[in-house]
Amino acid sequence: MNENLAVDEERDMSEPSLSEYSEPMDQPQPEETRIEVQGLSVHYGKTKAVKNVSLSIKSRKVTAIIGPSGCGKSTFIRCLNRMHEVTPGARVEGKVLLDGVDLYGPGTDPVEVRRKVGMVFQKPNPFPTMSIRDNVIAGFRLNGMRDRRLLEEKVEKSLHMAALWDEVKDQLHQPGTSLSGGQQQRLCIARALAVEPEVLLMDEPCSALDPIATAKIEELIHELKESVTIVIVTHNMQQAARVSDFTAFFYMGELVEFGVTSKIFTNPDKRQTEDYITGRFG
Ligand SMILES: Nc1ncnc2c1ncn2[C@@H]1O[C@H](COP(=O)(O)OP(=O)(O)OP(=O)(O)O)[C@@H](O)[C@H]1O
Ligand SMILES: [Mg+2]
Repeated sequence: MNENLAVDEERDMSEPSLSEYSEPMDQPQPEETRIEVQGLSVHYGKTKAVKNVSLSIKSRKVTAIIGPSGCGKSTFIRCLNRMHEVTPGARVEGKVLLDGVDLYGPGTDPVEVRRKVGMVFQKPNPFPTMSIRDNVIAGFRLNGMRDRRLLEEKVEKSLHMAALWDEVKDQLHQPGTSLSGGQQQRLCIARALAVEPEVLLMDEPCSALDPIATAKIEELIHELKESVTIVIVTHNMQQAARVSDFTAFFYMGELVEFGVTSKIFTNPDKRQTEDYITGRFG
């Protein structure tokens, strides 16, 4: 994630590098691919839910997945952190490379994959028996991490990142389920962020929320993309247009069109894409 930082740390700081003379800091950086999907197909028994999909997910950008109900959006996104493996009967073909490493390769540990690629679901799902605080650090407790000071730091930092700290800082020991739906969803985002994922997958994270809570999540997505790569499934076209840099349109398991969001929404190449985004079907 921080290759550039690592390089900077190693460099002799007393000598300005050539790049400091020639490249001002605010120059746009070339886009880096974080996840490369190659020929991905997913079967549930005889049903083929995702058909030979290839696309690149760019680092620190937001990629929206859109398409009518049943077109394979959730199935696709769940393949990006091997979450589909918890679904009996699901079978995957093709490759998903995270920073060049095959998530489905023989040496890859699915638990480590899910730490690097976190997920937030449609319905907020805080652990019902845990306090707000314990929900945030649930991922560490499973790992057996016991350093209290570090855990308290994680709680505060993650809740800040999820824009929830100010609302809950005086009630950290209340149950996670005592929060409103929108707060619970931000709590789940804080829990996902606590383990410092490189990628955050969000499957319709706002569909159970009111417009104010939705606006908060959208604002949060905007802030998070400074440090995290985000893939979001949404049925809300305005939301896709507002929050994403790239959009993928799926139809019946196929990737019909993928590109820069402003182009997909103003001048798509495919008729099907246009019909969908203008509400003519789906
Ligand atoms: N666990 C499962 N077992 C069998 N078939 C499934 C399973 N989950 C999904 N499917 C099938 O795979 C296809 C794609 O489903 P998926 O949930 O990925 O669609 P989606 O685009 O997320 O839809 P929605 O917008 O309604 O959430 C559908 O035909 C669905 O019936
Ligand atoms: Mg879905």
